[in-house]
Amino acid sequence: MADPVRVAVLISGRGSNMLALSEHKRRDPERTYRIELVASNVPEARGLVLAKRLGLRTWAKSHEGMKRAEFDALLDAALEEHGIEIVALAGYMRLLSPGFVDKWEGRILNIHPSLLPLHKGLDTHRRALLAGDEFAGCSVHVVTADLDSGPVVAQARVKILPRDDPESLAQRVLEEEHRLYPLALEEYCRAVRELES
Ligand code: GRF
Repeated sequence: MADPVRVAVLISGRGSNMLALSEHKRRDPERTYRIELVASNVPEARGLVLAKRLGLRTWAKSHEGMKRAEFDALLDAALEEHGIEIVALAGYMRLLSPGFVDKWEGRILNIHPSLLPLHKGLDTHRRALLAGDEFAGCSVHVVTADLDSGPVVAQARVKILPRDDPESLAQRVLEEEHRLYPLALEEYCRAVRELES
């Protein structure tokens, strides 16, 4: 059986998706990926505390006062040091530099809380409600140079209810995120290994 793909999860905040990714099949000998590193541009991110509790390796550095490319070069060095093969963005609230995206082309995934290509960017649930959408949801996509625009690899839909506000909708979508992201990452990592063989 092939070795699990070495994954880094990039976070900036609470880290609930990171938790879902790291818990998924953690003890399954047939798992297709393993979280090798949790990295953050926000040293006080709540998710880092969770990651440390889980015994995961962490890397944190504030991006403040640094040029984007300069910060991303440090991040890249940390990923290389840990032999990372796939990068999973999970609430990483910072645009990646073109050079970084170029180098990791096809090897960065992101989860976005909308049914892409609808509602790219921030405040997705409010915008879905304002637009009168019937469904909200989440998308896992490959990261490219354009924000939230790379190929979608998995989506989950959530019915919008008449009583929904952005918070209630966000909560139900988040539950779907936690279900979808590990499955999508697993599939992606399986494909990575298959391409190699
Ligand atoms: C999630 O809603 C994710 O879709 C978006 O940022 C949020 C991160 O939440 N990109 P968490 O840090 O994983 O709890």
